Amino acid sequence: MSNLDQHLSASQKLATDDLDWDLAAKIGLSQSERCALRYFADVEGQTVHYFLEVAKLEAARDPELLTFLTLWNYEEYFHGHALSRLLDVCGTPQTAACERTGQVRSQARFKATIEDWVQRGIARLMPRTFVALWMTWGALQEGLTTRGYEELARNTANPVLAELCQRIAKQERRHFAYYYGQAKLRLAESRFTQRVVRYVVEHCFSLVGSGVKTELEMATLIGQLFAGPRLLEVTAGLDKRIGALPGMAGTELVQRYAREQTRLLAAPGELAPELALG
Ligand SMILES: [Fe+2]
Ligand SMILES: [Fe+2]
Repeated sequence: MSNLDQHLSASQKLATDDLDWDLAAKIGLSQSERCALRYFADVEGQTVHYFLEVAKLEAARDPELLTFLTLWNYEEYFHGHALSRLLDVCGTPQTAACERTGQVRSQARFKATIEDWVQRGIARLMPRTFVALWMTWGALQEGLTTRGYEELARNTANPVLAELCQRIAKQERRHFAYYYGQAKLRLAESRFTQRVVRYVVEHCFSLVGSGVKTELEMATLIGQLFAGPRLLEVTAGLDKRIGALPGMAGTELVQRYAREQTRLLAAPGELAPELALG
């Protein structure tokens, strides 16, 4: 069965109707969980905008890629929806999902516009390299997102949050597998592509959602999500996977990103205002 066939047979709306929402409300969420869930809900809600941008590109009009993007976008929508519902029942109401997505998008518009221009330029000048870059970038983002949900599930005292995060992480692992598999195939096509992709990811990598949060907010969030040595453990593991892709041997780009985040938090207790409010 091909990688895409696996998605076609496994893809589905996240199941949440059987979760004990009353229990979730009774146990509640910690401040750092509320911050993390708001971030994840915002990022998941932005997927549709990214989908619209990328679908405009000629390089993305490959029937297989469009099929995957459709399934991916559908699944990500329900991740955001479920997280907003959890925040809501736990006493942190969110603006209606579609309305909030519009608000977040307007905050991120400047960065998104720049990214859009760069993306279009690369896609027009070197379409095959663009797809390899897009798939590698996607693997990095899905890999870190997966680990974020796994970490929330592992540390929370709320069993409903843990179950929800495990269910989401299961779908995120499948997204990672698709991007990773495509990156492997497409990077193997040429040394030129490998060099360009490596240069861009090593110099430009940042976690998805950076455009809607300040640097300090992102660093705070990451520091709360992956406490102490976990940040370097998790990022080293992801670097190892990425390092197995053609042309990416020995990369430490995710660990370097993590170290930059740690440095931003060098003044302990200095929580970003929005996150401190929880
Ligand atoms: Fe997701
Ligand atoms: Fe995902």
